[in-house]
Amino acid sequence: MNSPHLLVSALTAMLSLRALASSLPLTPPMGWNSWNHFQVNITDAIVRAQAEAMVSSGMRDAGYVYINIDDGWQGSRAADGTIQPNERFPDMAALADFLHAKGLKLGLYSSPGTKTCAGYTGSFGHEEQDARTYAAWGVDYLKYDLCSYNDEVVNKLTTPAERLDAIREAYAKMHRALRQTGRPIFYSLCQYGLNYVWRWGASVGGNSWRTTGDIGDSYAAMAAIGFGQAGLSRYASPGHWNDPDMLEVGNGGMTAEEYRTHMSLWALLAAPLLAGNDLTKMNAETIALLTNREVIAIDQDPAGVQGDRFSAEGPYEIWVKPLADGSKAIGIFNRQDTWTRGEVIPVDLRPLGFPSGAHVRDVWKHTDLGRREIIEATVPPHGCVLLRVRA
Ligand code: GAL
Repeated sequence: MNSPHLLVSALTAMLSLRALASSLPLTPPMGWNSWNHFQVNITDAIVRAQAEAMVSSGMRDAGYVYINIDDGWQGSRAADGTIQPNERFPDMAALADFLHAKGLKLGLYSSPGTKTCAGYTGSFGHEEQDARTYAAWGVDYLKYDLCSYNDEVVNKLTTPAERLDAIREAYAKMHRALRQTGRPIFYSLCQYGLNYVWRWGASVGGNSWRTTGDIGDSYAAMAAIGFGQAGLSRYASPGHWNDPDMLEVGNGGMTAEEYRTHMSLWALLAAPLLAGNDLTKMNAETIALLTNREVIAIDQDPAGVQGDRFSAEGPYEIWVKPLADGSKAIGIFNRQDTWTRGEVIPVDLRPLGFPSGAHVRDVWKHTDLGRREIIEATVPPHGCVLLRVRA
């Protein structure tokens, strides 16, 4: 550095890069992802239709903005190595413009391996080039899925420490490449929660990291993942989220009661809320489940504290999430499979930080329940009651 002028411009450039990077939202990302409903059967037209539905259904105005194309958009590389979309996505930059004009954002998916999980082209050896291409197209979110990198690199290493280093470096490498573009791109790690990723996901640049294998559209699959997040809350903070996978709400495999449990758990977990259904075919019930503002406010609370299990007695669980205004979200769950008439679950608010009772609101029913010291919630099997409680 040989002149004060150069120093000032270098500092200015660094500061504006930091400002760009920090312009990523600090609350969990909300949007839609193609995988759960469409798998690789996606096209530009399908994605545009989802975006239109996201706006017309009121989802965008409730906070859902990312339109994330998962596996299946990639074509081959051009002679100079540039990644090209396949014939189902004629012009990715035009698609990004279309989304941006609606106040939405575009997400893409790739892998550190040569192949993605579904066998499409991965980023191996082209990380910087791909990051530059994404930025030039106007991409705002990248899901980076381990996949073939495991067989190609990780499994050839001998010790667990070497294997962990290789995985961490693969993720850090793409993070550096994304950062160099200067475009704020939300970085979502997907390696199925292996190797205690919640302990190091943030240190390799992750804004979120999958904590589990893939979700399925059944109560059993959803509950195993959702309730299995106990103990992970301390690894989340604003801009750095545990990701228990995308939503199945509206895909048809669960009852409305079960989907309500799904949304309630994900909100308590401060999880990314990425709808995984066909937004063009939603009934009123699905829209109501996805757009309940009071539930979304729990997920999106600015304190960014993930909730955690307070107690489990047999099939009855209580989960608590502290909120920025001093109130707490409390989820009361009945994990029993069989239908009785619904179980009365008593919840004493005093040991939950409300020694002289609290004002209680049912956020699904939008009803105030008055001041209480003890709540007796009637909760159906597989169901839940979600409350917002303030002193
Ligand atoms: C899986 C991933 C899924 C989906 C799929 C695409 O590994 O967990 O969420 O992205 O790959 O092939």
